[in-house]
Amino acid sequence: MTFTLPELPYAYDALAPYMSAETLEYHHDKHHNTYVEKSNDLIQGTGLEGKSIEEVVKGAHGTNQGLFNNIAQHYNHMHFWQWMKPGGGGTSVPGALAAKIDEDLGGFDKFRADFIDAGVTQFGSGWCWLAMKDGKLQVMKTPNGENPLVHGATPLLGCDVWEHSYYIDYRNARPKYLEAFFDNLVNWEYVEHLFNQAS
Ligand SMILES: [Fe+2]
Repeated sequence: MTFTLPELPYAYDALAPYMSAETLEYHHDKHHNTYVEKSNDLIQGTGLEGKSIEEVVKGAHGTNQGLFNNIAQHYNHMHFWQWMKPGGGGTSVPGALAAKIDEDLGGFDKFRADFIDAGVTQFGSGWCWLAMKDGKLQVMKTPNGENPLVHGATPLLGCDVWEHSYYIDYRNARPKYLEAFFDNLVNWEYVEHLFNQAS
């Protein structure tokens, strides 16, 4: 099995003005494609060939840093494109997920503030997350390509806070990018789909 770059689920200009076509062209066609190509190269001879992407991410963690960096980023970006949609974001969270956010995270407004804060305070490159662990929702942040899978959790929503994700559109204003992502781009139906799988 070789890993392949998935098509974007929308046109390059579909997320403007919150994420530009130029950002998506670089981020998807160049950055994500490089993670895919390097994963296919670095997996050779590791014994992880043919395993599911989740198994490769977990199998490479702590044992093969080069493969881990690239395959984890492939996994993260495969979902990242689907975690956004034109006209997304806002408070239109599906019912069961909204109730779970109230129960575990102190309500939607606190979840929004904590998610954005996790992204703002991730020093350097990384991701902020909504994840499910042991039946409970939690907000997390991770450096570089690391993700909740290697912490025994299931990612439900993630935002890429590497500079390649926002520098063209927001320069150094990472908080503004995170607010735009949360308020205008999140595909809550996809988050709900992952929530139902994890529940
Ligand atoms: Fe990225």
